[in-house]
Amino acid sequence: MRKLILYIAASLDGYIARTDGRIDWLENKTYTIAGEDFGYSDFMKTIDTTLMGHSTYKVVLGLGMSFPYPDKTNYVFSHTEHPATEYVQFVTRNATGFVKQLKQETGKNIWLIGGSQLNTLLLNAGLIDEIILTYIPVVLGKGIPLFAPGASENMMRVTETQNYKNGFVQLNLQPRREV
Ligand SMILES: NC(=O)c1ccc[n+]([C@@H]2O[C@H](COP(=O)([O-])OP(=O)(O)OC[C@H]3O[C@@H](n4cnc5c(N)ncnc54)[C@H](OP(=O)(O)O)[C@@H]3O)[C@@H](O)[C@H]2O)c1
Repeated sequence: MRKLILYIAASLDGYIARTDGRIDWLENKTYTIAGEDFGYSDFMKTIDTTLMGHSTYKVVLGLGMSFPYPDKTNYVFSHTEHPATEYVQFVTRNATGFVKQLKQETGKNIWLIGGSQLNTLLLNAGLIDEIILTYIPVVLGKGIPLFAPGASENMMRVTETQNYKNGFVQLNLQPRREV
């Protein structure tokens, strides 16, 4: 079965965005390492589908660039109907059932982009198979957390770690389903 992988970056204190949704701290030039994309392009080769919450989608649109995943099948989750665009389709009902079904279909792995609400919904439904989490060495103090209050307790197994010379630490994690 294809895997649902949450590939995401968080601050040291576990936030994925500022309270107002901005992710400028992720793109700080201080972190640039020439020729290094922290596994992003290799990861992109392994997926053909992305999942985003509506808030994350709006942040992506607000970045003012062309849609970044035009060659993928992209689903945006919202409680209200929206017309599909050239690049995205909206999922408005039975979100977890939809993802369960998607995982049964043939294809490459599925990237759970985020954000917090969608991460929590799919974690609590036991649908996340793997997390690739890059810790950025910054404390934000407040913001939108990786998982929202109400996330269920989940023990994780760390299957791989990678340190980068800019201080990024990347963890590959899998839920301990047997616990
Ligand atoms: N650091 C990173 O790598 C990273 C990665 C991804 C995202 N982010 C950040 O995360 C932030 C957004 O996180 P968030 O938690 O506020 O929002 P989110 O999870 O991106 O989106 C929340 C929205 O998803 C829809 N939704 C939630 N549950 C649903 C369900 N059961 N069925 C259908 N639709 C559902 C609702 O849309 P409607 O309101 O339309 O109903 C809800 O308002 C953004 O600032 C983004 O930049 C950061």
